[in-house]
Amino acid sequence: MRRHGIPTAEGESFEHYSEARKFIKDSERQRFVIKALGLAAGKGVVLAADQKEALEALDDIMVYKKFGREAGDHVVVEELLDGEEISVHTFCDAHTHKTLAAGQDHKRTWEPDGPNTGWMGAYTPVDFLSEEDMKVIEHKIIKPTLGLLFICIMMTKHGPKVIEYKARFGDPETQSMLPHLSSDTDLCQILLACTSNALESVKIKARSGHACNVVVASGGYPGSAVQSSWRRALKVSVLRALVDPISVHGVLKTAGGRVFSVAAVEDTLEEAVRTAYKGVKLIKFDGM
Ligand code: GLY
Repeated sequence: MRRHGIPTAEGESFEHYSEARKFIKDSERQRFVIKALGLAAGKGVVLAADQKEALEALDDIMVYKKFGREAGDHVVVEELLDGEEISVHTFCDAHTHKTLAAGQDHKRTWEPDGPNTGWMGAYTPVDFLSEEDMKVIEHKIIKPTLGLLFICIMMTKHGPKVIEYKARFGDPETQSMLPHLSSDTDLCQILLACTSNALESVKIKARSGHACNVVVASGGYPGSAVQSSWRRALKVSVLRALVDPISVHGVLKTAGGRVFSVAAVEDTLEEAVRTAYKGVKLIKFDGM
């Protein structure tokens, strides 16, 4: 990102503990993000509110190898970005890119807080994002990045900054972004066009209104399946389909912590939230 002038958090990566420690101690910043660079099952990021917490996180990662031996060999120390985080999904082929209306996901179990999850819901579009903001994102972030699909962006008071890229659709953003496409926009056509450099000729239109989806999880999630009460293979009943008939062949059973996502599109965000929760109430399983 630095090489291409793409705005992101300031920071450095370190292989040596003493250098990372010195960087934190010499910094004029108070708040840091410390990341284990290797795979850490999605847990290797610590948001540190002051230098003491940052140094403790560094010890956990590099000295005590709390996130695994290899994950702790290399760390990234970054400034902590303040703002609202948004998700931007972009289709691209070798010549063209087209961006869906931005969404925002919800990471904590409860509203507004609770333990971190693999995301509990999302909505599209994001009302606080202006056309001017989207122009800045297009010009400074998407164009110089082309080739990637999903960008998490922090809207800071110094403008949009990249948190991370993912070369896949977001979950649960996708469940709100795709229903927000107009009825004459064909996802299959978009995806095929991406693979044959024909994206220029495809129209991607959003319908008016707002989409929201709510994730339904097993009781005890996000605690570990072993230690907490959430179990797999619980029988699921769909009491009545809300809009389209759902045909169920055989028995539906749960297969993990996050089980279903129920999405709705309505004129306002509030109505979309209400309708999604109405859909949730039509599904039942033990400890839901
Ligand atoms: N909701 C964020 C992700 O799918 O990675």
